Amino acid sequence: MTSGKLIGVGVGPGDPGLLTLKAVAAIEASPVIAYLSAEGEASLARNIVAAHLRADHTEVPLQAPMRLEPEVIAGFYDQSADTLAAELQAGRDVALLCLGDPLLYGSFAYLLDRLRHRFAFEVVPGIMSFAAASSKLGRVLARRRDSFAILSSLLPEERLEALIAAADQVAILKVGHRLPMLKAILERQGRLADAMLVAWVGWPEERIVPVADWPADEEPPYFALVLAGRPA
Ligand SMILES: C[S@@+](CC[C@H](N)C(=O)[O-])C[C@H]1O[C@@H](n2cnc3c(N)ncnc32)[C@H](O)[C@@H]1O
Repeated sequence: MTSGKLIGVGVGPGDPGLLTLKAVAAIEASPVIAYLSAEGEASLARNIVAAHLRADHTEVPLQAPMRLEPEVIAGFYDQSADTLAAELQAGRDVALLCLGDPLLYGSFAYLLDRLRHRFAFEVVPGIMSFAAASSKLGRVLARRRDSFAILSSLLPEERLEALIAAADQVAILKVGHRLPMLKAILERQGRLADAMLVAWVGWPEERIVPVADWPADEEPPYFALVLAGRPA
């Protein structure tokens, strides 16, 4: 029997209108729809594509543990890869739903690492969170010779500071509890004035606030990013 194909399907960051035609076609054609979520929570990616799911789709939820020890996370990916491999071995294509783009800071990378040498795979790109955020603001990401860096606020502070300093424009993902540190960096570099925090873009909870005005006593959600430009 021919094995099935693993398809990493980017579903965009929230607004179902940002699903691509190719993503919808992959979902419609795949008998198995897999998605990750935090333990005990609904999958955001499934929510985005809900209108395209049918009763004859087999849904495979993969619940990620809240614990962050590397061996627990590795065990979760091993187990999830085994679950998907069983479907693929049975000859069924699996559409694995991924928030934004599958290859940018996503769990898909860890599953692809484990399955790419055993099964055929395909990646359907998705609209990335920072692109949806810059579009909402009408904020240009780069002109002509500008450099534009996509960074994670989870980088060590010194490295993050150097990388921000080296770029004309930056999108910084995974903001959450790191906002005070990030705000201090932006202030030191004279970039705070026009830096914007965009949380939950495309969801009902969406908030777009200058970083300087984000309440000091409130931790931004994990689904938040910062767009910052050149020093004033
Ligand atoms: C695990 S990464 C996934 C990135 C995703 N693959 C992409 O292409 O944008 C999660 C981070 O993406 C950003 N993000 C994803 N969706 C978002 C949204 N709807 N609004 C704001 N930020 C979002 C946040 O910075 C969040 O911490």
